[in-house]
Amino acid sequence: MQSIHGEKSLNMARILVLDDEENMRRVLEVLLQKDGHVVDQAQDLAAARRILAAEACDLVLADQRLPDGEGLALVPECRAMEPPVPVILLTAYASIDLAVSALREGAFDFLTKPFNPGVLRGAVHRAFEHVSLLRENLRLKNELVRLNATGDLVGRSPAMTRLRELIGRVAPASATVLITGETGTGKELVARAIHQSSARSSKPLLIVNCAAVAEQLLESQLFGHERGAFTGADRAHRGFFEAADEGTLFLDEAGEMSLGLQAKLLRVLMDGEVMRVGASSPRHVDVRVLVATHRDLQRMVAEGRFREDLYYRLNVVPIPVPPLRQRREDVAPLLEHFLVQVALEMKVPRRRVSSAALARLTNYDFPGNVRELRNLVERAYILGRNELLEAEDFSLAAEPASSVAEDPLGPVLSRLPESINLREVLEDLERALLHRALEQSGGVQAEAGRQLGLSRSDMVYRVRKYGLESETR
Ligand SMILES: Nc1ncnc2c1ncn2[C@@H]1O[C@H](COP(=O)(O)OP(=O)(O)OP(=O)(O)O)[C@@H](O)[C@H]1O
Ligand SMILES: [Mg+2]
Repeated sequence: MQSIHGEKSLNMARILVLDDEENMRRVLEVLLQKDGHVVDQAQDLAAARRILAAEACDLVLADQRLPDGEGLALVPECRAMEPPVPVILLTAYASIDLAVSALREGAFDFLTKPFNPGVLRGAVHRAFEHVSLLRENLRLKNELVRLNATGDLVGRSPAMTRLRELIGRVAPASATVLITGETGTGKELVARAIHQSSARSSKPLLIVNCAAVAEQLLESQLFGHERGAFTGADRAHRGFFEAADEGTLFLDEAGEMSLGLQAKLLRVLMDGEVMRVGASSPRHVDVRVLVATHRDLQRMVAEGRFREDLYYRLNVVPIPVPPLRQRREDVAPLLEHFLVQVALEMKVPRRRVSSAALARLTNYDFPGNVRELRNLVERAYILGRNELLEAEDFSLAAEPASSVAEDPLGPVLSRLPESINLREVLEDLERALLHRALEQSGGVQAEAGRQLGLSRSDMVYRVRKYGLESETR
């Protein structure tokens, strides 16, 4: 007889019935056997313990008053088993006190005799659901550990293998690392992996999103401030650089830093010294800096929006994280990973994906990269009707994404729901519109400007701002 496991049927389980009255045991046995269960019988605690030690029972129905003690005594024993066995207590002498202690001890349910068969069945069914979820969860945790045996970065494409090697090589050094890649490619995960495999792993890793904070606040967050440095600074405050001393500081979205802050960052990188806002002397820090951006920093340098000296300083070790559409072999293992991860998070049984759906996903272009894949899996768990997820459950855009990508507006628009930085979105939009107008006018600036309703000088200014000179005639 097989005991219940994971998503397998709950129909045939092994149930121990513990009651000193033979009649009661018979009634329960008949009822449970009718539902397809296998029933063991015990008339006292000692017999019950012998059976529990010898058999893998899935559930215990225990009378409270027994010749050699209380049914309640079994509850903690069964909970401590591996896996835990739920106990439903039955009693003819119900009292509030007993019910409370039963539930406190962790009894799964508490029924008073006489009970009608429907109530008992309901309780048994709920107990099985509970057990199967517990077991499924345990299994998923093991599966996740197995999937993750090689670290957090899932994927077996040549690009991922190279990425892992690169991480392994740069981690031990204290060099600054520039992690680049589109949104959702896993830049933060790479930063975490570098910290984890460095000698600094027992020290803090602090993460600052430079795009999320206003400039002045960012400065005092990073470098700290002295008391009275500005209105409202009624206490001295140490910044992230000081807090990350001996550890790692990850500056996410570093492309969003103002030129002023860039200068200050350069100083820390060169001298290892931070200057709190309002301070008169610097403090020494030992911090490894990791930087990420989805921006093209080289282009920002050309546009005068990013300091060239800082760029070279950061770019000593560049780590580009390729978009998912350039490593489609990673879609299947990532999908597996997320199917397990999301099931664990939502505490629901794991689901699978039909081969048709997998084929669609593998061919999809993922403008939002790995994060988009994860979001699709989450949504499929919520919307999907069956254990086997189909292509519809992932609600991929009906149009193949590649045809969207040919439209210069496509990448911009597809980024919109992910993005929260309006300035950046508008700039990208502006660049894309300029690009399209220049294309349509054959590179004639005056004509493109007319199309966009821009004056001649305005057009010239913008072409220079976005480095589009090569597209003009
Ligand atoms: N190789 C991978 N293996 C497992 N999970 C991954 C992998 N790459 C990315 N992820 C997951 O995808 C999500 C997005 O990754 P992450 O936040 O690192 O991307 P990002 O490049 O920093 O994105 P953004 O530019 O939007 O900040 C996270 O949930 C992350 O755990
Ligand atoms: Mg990120």
